[in-house]
Amino acid sequence: MSSPAVHVLPARSWAADVAAEFGRRLIQQPRLRICLPTGDTPAPLYAALAEMAIRGELSFALATIILLDEYVDLPVGDPARGASQVRHDLLDRLPSGPARFHAIRVDELAPERAAAELDATTADGLDLALVGLGLNGHVGFNEPGSTAQSPTRVVPLSRASVQVATAEYGAKRAPSTGITLGLARILEAAEIWLLVTGERKADVLRRALEEPETPDCPASFLRRHARLHVFADDAAADLLTSA
Ligand code: GLP
Repeated sequence: MSSPAVHVLPARSWAADVAAEFGRRLIQQPRLRICLPTGDTPAPLYAALAEMAIRGELSFALATIILLDEYVDLPVGDPARGASQVRHDLLDRLPSGPARFHAIRVDELAPERAAAELDATTADGLDLALVGLGLNGHVGFNEPGSTAQSPTRVVPLSRASVQVATAEYGAKRAPSTGITLGLARILEAAEIWLLVTGERKADVLRRALEEPETPDCPASFLRRHARLHVFADDAAADLLTSA
């Protein structure tokens, strides 16, 4: 197993630094096929990317963006919905949209069919998977109990994820179910960037990177990937012995 590249960045410049790195990646490969997470961690990164796009420093015009995960049982337009968040935090701010944006079609399709569609959309492989880290070690909605073989699927949400949806993302009611890109598909991406910020993520990041891999902390399986880059701010990296 190769060691991940851990980039520890000052909290004040984390978003701008990761955005600059992303900008270089997009210039190298304008037709990038990426999956994007939602949540509090990537929001400042997306704001920085949108500002770069407005200044003409990067363009998503040829890129394909695929949503990493979505709630099944929140109404259209609920602020916690993944599609709402990625539109609000990134897409609506861009001067011109990406070539394609794949939301997870929970409103039009039965959950299993929406999950199957997400899986088919990613079957040819992603160039880059951007993922966040849940406080319980989840990646997307690959909750504890998930393994490196977990497929793209409909999942019951952990209590922690339900709590975050209502308390942090402003969900108007408590969701119970989600759809997530499976860890197996995430691990098939050519490259993975794990985005982690804040002191409250320090212990789970340490578990993910430095303890033996385990379904109790699904993010620990990301270390199997030869091109895993961890972009952590100094607060999140505080408990790492290796960084
Ligand atoms: C959420 C989402 C994930 C996200 C993670 C961390 O519940 N399902 O896609 O990456 O939890 O969220 P945050 O960045 O808000 O801490």
